[in-house]
Amino acid sequence: MLANFAEVVERGSRDEALLAQVDWTRLPRHVAVIMDGNGRWAARRGQPRIAGHRAGVEAVRASVDTGARLGLGALTLYAFSTENWKRPRLEVDALMRMLKRYLRLELEEINRQDIRFQPIGRTDALQESVRRELQRAIERTERNTGMVLSVALNYGGRAEIVDAARAAVRALVAEGSAPDGITEEDIGRNLYTCGLPELDLLVRTSGELRISNFMLWQAAYSEIYVTETLWPDFRRADLLEAIVDYQRRDRRFGGLQLVANAK
Ligand code: IPE
Ligand code: IPE
Ligand code: MG
Repeated sequence: MLANFAEVVERGSRDEALLAQVDWTRLPRHVAVIMDGNGRWAARRGQPRIAGHRAGVEAVRASVDTGARLGLGALTLYAFSTENWKRPRLEVDALMRMLKRYLRLELEEINRQDIRFQPIGRTDALQESVRRELQRAIERTERNTGMVLSVALNYGGRAEIVDAARAAVRALVAEGSAPDGITEEDIGRNLYTCGLPELDLLVRTSGELRISNFMLWQAAYSEIYVTETLWPDFRRADLLEAIVDYQRRDRRFGGLQLVANAK
């Protein structure tokens, strides 16, 4: 598996040292990242917030590449929340433009790495030009069988649970069953993340200790890793560090026995 990194990791580098610490038999199946701190990164340099978002694209590239080379089942990136519409119009527009540009520039590389692209969230409410680009990426990669790259756009954990509950109730009404019949599986089956592996590791950058409406359902027993690193500075080594830290945790899921988080 280390061979996957041979062409991109230098001998003697921190990346190489961290890779040597990774237990390949106990990788997290699904890693989700709250990509935070772009604005502060820019402010520290006396630049506009948008410059921070632009710099954040390199961190996205590094994380996607690392996740794919590790062979993660899924990598979910929180890119735009249902609350981020509160930001100035100029910033929202810039984020959408950058998303389109990222997809146009990276789609072939994503496809080459056998990654399947899947946006999650209330994407119907996004601009038409954004939806078109998303659709193109979905279709181009739909037959790929490697890592799923799920990008959360106009995503809210509460909205997701509401959407899942509505779908579950609709199915119940259609079959004439009573509401008490709804189970956790019914909700889980209707979440945007249905079909993705369990969320093992939730990473947040920039030191904030909150989950900001992300993966509310899925994070029930996820391990949480917070780093002070601001998103634009996040690189391969930072993701590997999160994974090595995750592999040191004791996971008990409410019981008394350790549960091996085997892949
Ligand atoms: C995260 O960085 C990117 C998005 C929310 C789109 P921020 O823009 O939230 O940066 P800070 O938190 O203000 O530093
Ligand atoms: C969370 O970051 C949303 C994304 C990373 C897309 P925010 O910067 O929007 O969250 P708060 O406002 O600090 O909670
Ligand atoms: Mg923020």
